[in-house]
Amino acid sequence: MKTRGAPAIAIVAALSLAVDVQTRHANGEFQSAQQALQFLEDSLAYLKTSRPTAVNLFDAAAKLSALNQQTASAAGASADTVVAAYVQAAEQMLIDDVQDNKNIGKFGADFIVEHAQQAQDISVLTHCNTGSLATAGWGTALGIIRDLHKRQQLTHAYCTETRPYNQGSRLTAYELVYEQIPATLICDSMASALLKLRPNVQAIIVGADRVAANGDTANKIGTYQLAITAKHHGILFIVAAPSTSVDLLTATGKDIVIEERPAEELVNTSGVQFLDGKPTPTSVRTAAQHIGVWNPSFDVTPSNLISAIVTERGVVVKQPGQDAFDMAAFLQSQ
Ligand SMILES: *[C@@H]1O[C@H](CO)[C@@H](O)[C@H](O)[C@H]1NC(C)=O
Repeated sequence: MKTRGAPAIAIVAALSLAVDVQTRHANGEFQSAQQALQFLEDSLAYLKTSRPTAVNLFDAAAKLSALNQQTASAAGASADTVVAAYVQAAEQMLIDDVQDNKNIGKFGADFIVEHAQQAQDISVLTHCNTGSLATAGWGTALGIIRDLHKRQQLTHAYCTETRPYNQGSRLTAYELVYEQIPATLICDSMASALLKLRPNVQAIIVGADRVAANGDTANKIGTYQLAITAKHHGILFIVAAPSTSVDLLTATGKDIVIEERPAEELVNTSGVQFLDGKPTPTSVRTAAQHIGVWNPSFDVTPSNLISAIVTERGVVVKQPGQDAFDMAAFLQSQ
């Protein structure tokens, strides 16, 4: 939870391994291409065990692993060439991620302006944190909000608190204030009332930890109920994610493993206390003792509740009369 946000997890994993392998190489740990390869492969396999829901990490690890195998088996391969190729690829991932986010922001903002009931007065609601603190920079769902704001086509952004770990009130709220985007915090249970009472909220925009082949989407717990209320109120429900979040091997949402997290996150509320003027992270128990707790981190939103999936390559919509997205056809058409 120190590193969070599916795209950021992949980038941090790739870059931290780049630092580690370079340090080891400088210390003369690798005598051959094979030894460097072995270390990189073992490390990538270990990194993949860290978070079960975020697919970007698996995708990044597979790409890096293929590259490692290739450089290690090339003519004239040495520890030098294997390490250098790995480091360069990890750094390129960071550069590409930011550009992908900017493209998501642009495609998403275009789509919302085109499909909103009144393009003159667009407010949006977002959930969890998908901004520069969850990605390499810029953000996915928050990238769309930034883009709308930059074009002066955003009236207001609302963000949920995102219980139990408050990524919305701690991180998204911080980013919105920092960017000077007019914004208001609500707690998760206020979303339906907001849509009823503020009809200019014309879209809910969320990120994704994984998108199945049919478009079912795993995202932060609470996303599913937001999609239901979006449908009820007839507004857009947009999923913003890089195409690396699409996992064609996951046929539908039923196949997605949902991470469950410790009860402490739910029974305690954490924040910052100023002790002797120094900001100090603090956690206080707010739930009754001995109560049972269920704390799934994610839920799955079925494709029929999603209006569009915005990727860096373009916007995916359903064919008329279909309930599901054809993510494979979209990826192949690119
Ligand atoms: C939860 O809060 C209690 C104090 O109310 C504290 O003693 C405990 O360490 C906290 N748990 C966590 C995991 O922070």
